[in-house]
Amino acid sequence: MSREVTLRRPDDWHLHLRDGAMLRAVLPESARHFARAIIMPNLVPPVVTGAQAAAYRDRIRAALPDGMDFAPLMTLYLTEDTDPEDVAAAQVSGLVHAVKLYPAGATTNSASGVTDFDRVRPVLEKMAEIGLPLCVHGEVTDPEVDIFDREAVFIDRVLDPIRRATPGLRVVMEHITTRQGADYVRSAEADLAATITTHHLIINRNHILVGGIRPHYYCLPVAKREEHRLALRAAATSGDRRFFLGTDSAPHVDAAKETGCGCAGCFTATNTLSLLAHVFEEEEALDRLERFTSLNGPAFYGLPANEDTITLRRGDDPVRFPAKIDSDDGPVTVFDPGFEVYWTAP
Ligand code: NCD
Ligand code: ZN
Repeated sequence: MSREVTLRRPDDWHLHLRDGAMLRAVLPESARHFARAIIMPNLVPPVVTGAQAAAYRDRIRAALPDGMDFAPLMTLYLTEDTDPEDVAAAQVSGLVHAVKLYPAGATTNSASGVTDFDRVRPVLEKMAEIGLPLCVHGEVTDPEVDIFDREAVFIDRVLDPIRRATPGLRVVMEHITTRQGADYVRSAEADLAATITTHHLIINRNHILVGGIRPHYYCLPVAKREEHRLALRAAATSGDRRFFLGTDSAPHVDAAKETGCGCAGCFTATNTLSLLAHVFEEEEALDRLERFTSLNGPAFYGLPANEDTITLRRGDDPVRFPAKIDSDDGPVTVFDPGFEVYWTAP
């Protein structure tokens, strides 16, 4: 049965573009479909200051192939030395759209993240004052806490206290993976939203671990039990303005994934929109896809929705996505949903 759905052009509210050869390889995969993206700052070294964000934005613009249009929305990596005035100036100039909080050691390239949350209080207070969102990697790093519980514990131990201590702070819980994450977002009337990735709508922890270990399904926060995947599907397809797409497309070369200690990250930029159309069709929610991909995110970030549109088409034959894309650093495996997909994006 052929079918089509036309959306305002989507944006990606959580994206890793990396730098250098990897940036050149992955940027067209996002720019083909997305108008804008919130660009994660976890380079080595991280993007900490306004000046570093401006330089990174210029490198992204320079890597964009001729004829492609794409606006990188820059973020700053919050450290215990971040200067509130530098953050404010970077927002006023229109450069920076969020500050990213990584608990130190929580994920890929997060060594410069925050250990002592009291030390970042002046920055958070300034952000509340100027309305600049805080994007949060919501996992505790306490070695005592089981990795599958780290998101739920973070909400109670860290996130809720920060929000209570900083009234008016606007927070995006990035890439939520649990029912508790979705419920916490719904419990707030204002100033709180969440991004949801494509892959967390598709895989649960069995996909990573049953029948052999699948490094290309390993990401952080790690996929949880099936009940959590279903809760994320319900949230994403509900149309609720507090949930929107952040793919967390996070490329690593295969050599860094398929090894004794593999990196976390799923690379989904290439087929994300086709997979989302599949998921929303399964949930009989295609009429709410546009809110998730194109409307709720801009509304939270105080930006207009894109004016142009994109049409996704469902054909009669399965679509063959590339298994890998090439970069000068090596091949990067494209996320394989493990089922046939019939939707194409132009
Ligand atoms: C991300 C990366 O590779 O930079 N990895 C991931 O598994 N999502 C970091 C992150 O967003 O946690
Ligand atoms: Zn990420």
